[in-house]
Amino acid sequence: MENNLKIGLFGFGCVGSGLYEVLNQSELIGAKIKTIVVKNKHKKRILPEHHFSYDPNVILLDETINVVVELIDDSKAAYDIVIKALNAGKHVVSANKKLIAEHLDELIDTAKRNNVSFLYEAAVAGSIPVIRNLEEYYNNDSLSAIRGIINGTTNYILTQTDAGATYAEALKTAQELGFAEADPTLDVEGFDARYKLVILIKHAFGVSFEPEEIPVKGVSALRSVDIRYAKERGLRIKLLARAEKISGKLFAVVSPHFVTHDEPTYGVNNEFNAVEVQALFSDRQLFYGKGAGSYPTASAVLSDISALKYDYKYEYRKSVGLKEDLSTGDFEVKVFVGASLDYDLRLLPFVQIDESYRGLEDQYVVGRIKSSDLKDLFEDHQISITLFNEKPITSGDLSQTFVEHEILETI
Ligand code: HSE
Repeated sequence: MENNLKIGLFGFGCVGSGLYEVLNQSELIGAKIKTIVVKNKHKKRILPEHHFSYDPNVILLDETINVVVELIDDSKAAYDIVIKALNAGKHVVSANKKLIAEHLDELIDTAKRNNVSFLYEAAVAGSIPVIRNLEEYYNNDSLSAIRGIINGTTNYILTQTDAGATYAEALKTAQELGFAEADPTLDVEGFDARYKLVILIKHAFGVSFEPEEIPVKGVSALRSVDIRYAKERGLRIKLLARAEKISGKLFAVVSPHFVTHDEPTYGVNNEFNAVEVQALFSDRQLFYGKGAGSYPTASAVLSDISALKYDYKYEYRKSVGLKEDLSTGDFEVKVFVGASLDYDLRLLPFVQIDESYRGLEDQYVVGRIKSSDLKDLFEDHQISITLFNEKPITSGDLSQTFVEHEILETI
């Protein structure tokens, strides 16, 4: 289609300025940034001030601009920009996972209605081409699971604290390196990974979830008891996002997990991400690469821009007919729960206890709980929960929920 892509760029932060440089260095002929709109007039940038405009309409009302690239932090402002751009018949490339996860179906419909492309490879796992692979290569229903590390900041924090840095130091460096969100709570509480998982689920399984439907726990609640447990057993703790199809239902979660040395995510460090895809015939496959940072993320934006040259659109082929079938199911999940000594672990709804410990300073229980209890447990800020990276089992007799006396005996 368009041999002459005229780009209106919103945002010139870490990824926006990276895109500017990547576009200048790439061989991509026929794609030029015409206008850059930013919000803050006084921020110091790598280009002189005359390169910037401050009114979104300078792009949105410019009929010669056929591509809008949206790379701003503010997801509400981004929503207005993207909807207006699509309705104005412009193709849109975005890296805004929050915007996309919260409004995916509406954005897809708006793009479809206007017969334009809406692409967002950079929104999930930075430089790793996972969305287009889910769309093109895994374009049938043979996928059974998608799981991995899809937040660079938390993986950087976990790697660095494992090597001796403090949590605060590691987070600060992740911010300085441009990995963290403007509001790093989104990273450390797992919300960023959850937005990305919502997008992956749409492309992997054809189902639309609201982010809030997926239980989430970040890394900020990890306690020394979790870390000690991992160290003593040669495990590593990784923030994993998982969506697994089991007996026709979907198990989805974002949470710290213990990972054994033979798991592919064990050696994924710092800002690197890894997405593992499991399919019926190909079995397990791993995509690995930088998941955050200026150039790696900009490279995915560049790839979307170049895809516009051949009219590329996501097809969402798996969306047909699955929505009602693949609702979240109830499973039994193996978890580690840590707490200080004054917490009453007997109140937790374990369906099975495998191990328990009570020391001088802290305590833990390892056992199975129902996946439907995860959300409530994740919201309890007095405990830490780390999952085991094991396939959940379909719940059997769910009536056995409280095992108060068993915990009393084993602790
Ligand atoms: N804050 C995000 C991360 C940036 O750390 O993964 C890339 O999406």
